[in-house]
Amino acid sequence: MQTRTYPDMIVLTRRGGDTLESPHEKPVILPREGDMDPVKHAWCDAFFATQILAEHGLFLSLMMPEELAAEARSEAKRFHQELNSLHEEIANASPPQRSELQSFTGQVIDAVMPFIDYKARMGEAQRTGQLHSFVWPLMFDHMRREAQWYVHRLETLGRGQVEFSRDEVVGNWADLMDEEARFLAHLLDPDEFDLIQKAMQTSQVWRELEKGGMGSVVSASIKEPGTVMQSMSQHPSTDAVMSSALTTLDVQTDVTRGIEAARIKSIIDPRLADHNRREMVKFIDELKRAS
Ligand SMILES: [Fe+2]
Ligand SMILES: [Fe+2]
Repeated sequence: MQTRTYPDMIVLTRRGGDTLESPHEKPVILPREGDMDPVKHAWCDAFFATQILAEHGLFLSLMMPEELAAEARSEAKRFHQELNSLHEEIANASPPQRSELQSFTGQVIDAVMPFIDYKARMGEAQRTGQLHSFVWPLMFDHMRREAQWYVHRLETLGRGQVEFSRDEVVGNWADLMDEEARFLAHLLDPDEFDLIQKAMQTSQVWRELEKGGMGSVVSASIKEPGTVMQSMSQHPSTDAVMSSALTTLDVQTDVTRGIEAARIKSIIDPRLADHNRREMVKFIDELKRAS
């Protein structure tokens, strides 16, 4: 399937061209390299965030059986629908005018805030045994922090500030990538010994890199020498975070294709695999732009 084109934006696909390789694949739309226009950044972030967060609503509802969590499930479905229609609206409109920037970002933030609150409430309910869904407390928490990151970015962009701080970008995403690797390990079929081990090693590397600075690179290399060495040889870079990110993206792309083709046994919805992969693409883009 051919992707849509967006004037002045980059469209990233799994294979790098302008076609999508599977019905589960969605492209990532980004401002061009070096583009410092807050309006374009705000549009791309709003496009990405509403798509990702609508999917959170969908995944949460799928992990909440009607018999166990009817109310929580219907709320999740409502967030899916609302954020999805906002996403469609954004996708079909051009970036706002400069004078509309703040109201544009404000509208998206207003739609996301109740979902952040929901994730916090449901996470607490699951943690304390009031809710018995198939969503781990850590997954509610992970999805809540992702939403908070987009709100933070949209607030910053609403003020016309485009720059990323590297510490902030690494601090946010390394943590999320550690968790995502552990989610993968726990959603794979227990027979997938090698991939489960690889996922846990990847999570360990991100847990170390999250601490930031040269010390974290050294401790990641000591704790997981094989994983770090492999990243450095596959994606040589002076930046260990970037080479680990690119390697993790390769693994996620392989896993997504493996799940789609049923080469990998798991209980992972292919749409969730593609979702996680797109988050990695976003992290890499933010890391490239961060000073
Ligand atoms: Fe997510
Ligand atoms: Fe995630």
